[in-house]
Amino acid sequence: MAKRILMVNGPNLNLLGTREPGIYGARRLDWIVAQVREQARVLGYELDAFQSNGEGDLVTRIGSSAGRYAGIVLNPAAYTHTSIALRDAIKAVGVPCVEVHLSNIHAREPFRQQSMTAGACIGIVGGFGWRSYVLALEGLVGWIESDAKPAKAPAGRRKPGRKAAPRVRKERT
Ligand code: DQA
Repeated sequence: MAKRILMVNGPNLNLLGTREPGIYGARRLDWIVAQVREQARVLGYELDAFQSNGEGDLVTRIGSSAGRYAGIVLNPAAYTHTSIALRDAIKAVGVPCVEVHLSNIHAREPFRQQSMTAGACIGIVGGFGWRSYVLALEGLVGWIESDAKPAKAPAGRRKPGRKAAPRVRKERT
């Protein structure tokens, strides 16, 4: 698998820098991407970044990520709260994905406190501004390179998630 991470950003995140800076911070998306790309490089990964305001574009980009990316860092933005299509895309490709939010969505309006996508992700990070992305990347790479990868289980050990065969006690006759 290529040592390549996909960073996906949803609607209105192209406006970071001027968009509600009291909530989302003053950094532009390009600047954030540069920080995440640099940290990815330090960790031995390349980073591709994609932003779209369209749900279909996001679904298509995630849908073509299998086999090309080791993992996805995703801020679905407002689609977090509505998009079953994005959730299904994450599930469909099976590429480990971390959900990111600049703000702490659980401390905001009730409609932001529900995520359609988080359940399809290996983890979520939010509330740390632009640093949420870097933390998400670090968590994702740690997950990719750790015991969470069934294929990396040493020979002789059970793969995670598989139940041990039941021990059958022979009846004495
Ligand atoms: C956001 C939170 C969402 O509720 C909102 O719609 C966004 C940004 C965040 O990063 O904090 O666009 O995903």
